[in-house]
Amino acid sequence: MLKKQAASLIAPLAGLKEAEVFKLLEVPPQQEMGDIAFPCFVLAKSLKKAPVAIATEIASALQSDILEAVPAGPYVNIRFRREKLAAELLQELGQPGFGKLEEGNAARVVIDMSSPNIAKPFGVGHLRSTVIGAALYRLYNEAGYTAVSVNHLGDWGTQFGKQIAAYKRWGNDAALQAEPIRTSLELYVRFHDEAEHDPSLEVEAREWFRKLEQGDEEAKQLWAFFVEVSMKEFDRMYERLNVQFDHTLGESFYNDKMGAVVDELRAKGLLEESDGALVVRLEEENMPPCLIIKKDGTTIYPTRDLATAIYRHDVMKADKMLYVVGGEQKLHFNQVFAVLSRMGHDWSANCEHIPFGLMRFEGRKMSTRRGKVVFLQEVLDEAVSRAMQIIQEKNPNLPNPQEVAEAVGVGAIVFGDLSNNRLNDIDFSLEDAVSFEGETGPYVQYAYARIKSVLAKAREVAETEKDLEEKLTAIDHESNSTKQKVTTSEPTWALLKLLANYPEFLSKAVQRNEPSVIAKYAIDVAQAFNRFYHAERIADAPLEERAFRLALTERTAERLAHSLNLLGVKAPERM
Ligand code: ARG
Repeated sequence: MLKKQAASLIAPLAGLKEAEVFKLLEVPPQQEMGDIAFPCFVLAKSLKKAPVAIATEIASALQSDILEAVPAGPYVNIRFRREKLAAELLQELGQPGFGKLEEGNAARVVIDMSSPNIAKPFGVGHLRSTVIGAALYRLYNEAGYTAVSVNHLGDWGTQFGKQIAAYKRWGNDAALQAEPIRTSLELYVRFHDEAEHDPSLEVEAREWFRKLEQGDEEAKQLWAFFVEVSMKEFDRMYERLNVQFDHTLGESFYNDKMGAVVDELRAKGLLEESDGALVVRLEEENMPPCLIIKKDGTTIYPTRDLATAIYRHDVMKADKMLYVVGGEQKLHFNQVFAVLSRMGHDWSANCEHIPFGLMRFEGRKMSTRRGKVVFLQEVLDEAVSRAMQIIQEKNPNLPNPQEVAEAVGVGAIVFGDLSNNRLNDIDFSLEDAVSFEGETGPYVQYAYARIKSVLAKAREVAETEKDLEEKLTAIDHESNSTKQKVTTSEPTWALLKLLANYPEFLSKAVQRNEPSVIAKYAIDVAQAFNRFYHAERIADAPLEERAFRLALTERTAERLAHSLNLLGVKAPERM
């Protein structure tokens, strides 16, 4: 907000557009240097003057009753007059739509997220995709886009032939019902072990998948059963993570849509034979050929993604498509986008792979082949039980410890994921993630709960001082009220500015597809509040200062809860 104000004042003086100035503005590393700095280098050419001279001119023209402008070499340092602006800023923060942006112009953004594979464990990669995708979904909506989330389940492919073949030999319905993923995985592992010395298994598997693709009743029924039991287990995870999808459309949904794609490729002369398979060559793009039809006549992952993208464009009316999938699939998506472009689909330029790094839990990696996996449910359970221990120590009288422990434990993992730049590999330590200190989810949640208790205490105090209630309502209606005194100590001003700057953080997070911008922002707000809290009395401040400080505290609580919410982390009122 302050940056916007500065940009609009500087633009006419610099002969630039407001948006251009906005981009140039910097925030000085220390608040004492000013609130905002404008570098004048870029103007030297157009104004034919030295940057230092320009800085001096702009500074003197900018001077007004709301700000002080000081030239500092080639920079103009701007310091807002706090007493003039604080009350106004605080009031804007309390407006209902504060923080919502319209920069998306309601464009439809289809977000491909989560997308685990049926009959296989929900991997850490799927966790990251789910958590990052769900955060982007909320961020885009908040920035004025219309986000649409799709769970692109891996529910098709030759592995279902293996799954059925293994089930036919060693399957056990009760075990599958009770523990679908673990049982499916055991079947899968056993299949691979035994196939090493029993080649007939592979033959059976291929036969089953062929049958499945041809719509054989028994094959279809078994497939549907695997999908159903796996989904039940995935849904439990989604519930814990508090994630919903607008659409769950697995790869199988595109079975009857691939023929048209293959025909289109052929008609456009893009298909070539290679070793009995059909491919699209991508030499010009410097990529290996994209496989479309395998030697045995079956379609493959890229074929399904081509049909999927076309469907999202034509039927779902996507203006933009995001694919939140691990970095190891980079080539796959580049190939798919390149083939779309070769087909003449210009909109392929609006398709973007949103990759992310690997995550390990305490150094343990995931490998589904070998069956050595860390199950996500177990990781969540462990985080929750650690959270429970801390909570019982800190606050043994909490009425709903289990509920809070779930919010803190699961939140710690979600926040731990999202507070890293998404491209970074993460070596996750549960102990660190669940800690109430450091840059963690529980730290932010705890700050929120503490603020809530400050506000509750203020209410208690107010009850003993009847007229405060009046003051508290006054702040909402006329925060310029003369009865009210506005404090603008360094920590107060720093907190207020940070809250007011929220829209810029939101905008940056969306531009970069980077939820970590908001996670870091939430940490900054919690830290800024703690500094303010240590510097100022709040609930028992002198009456005329109390209203302002309480309102600031209230706005901080809202912003923290809102930021956590955007990330998919719950904010318990007490913990
Ligand atoms: N199921 C795939 C996997 O686990 C991820 C799918 C990603 N989305 C897509 N449209 N290809 O590797």
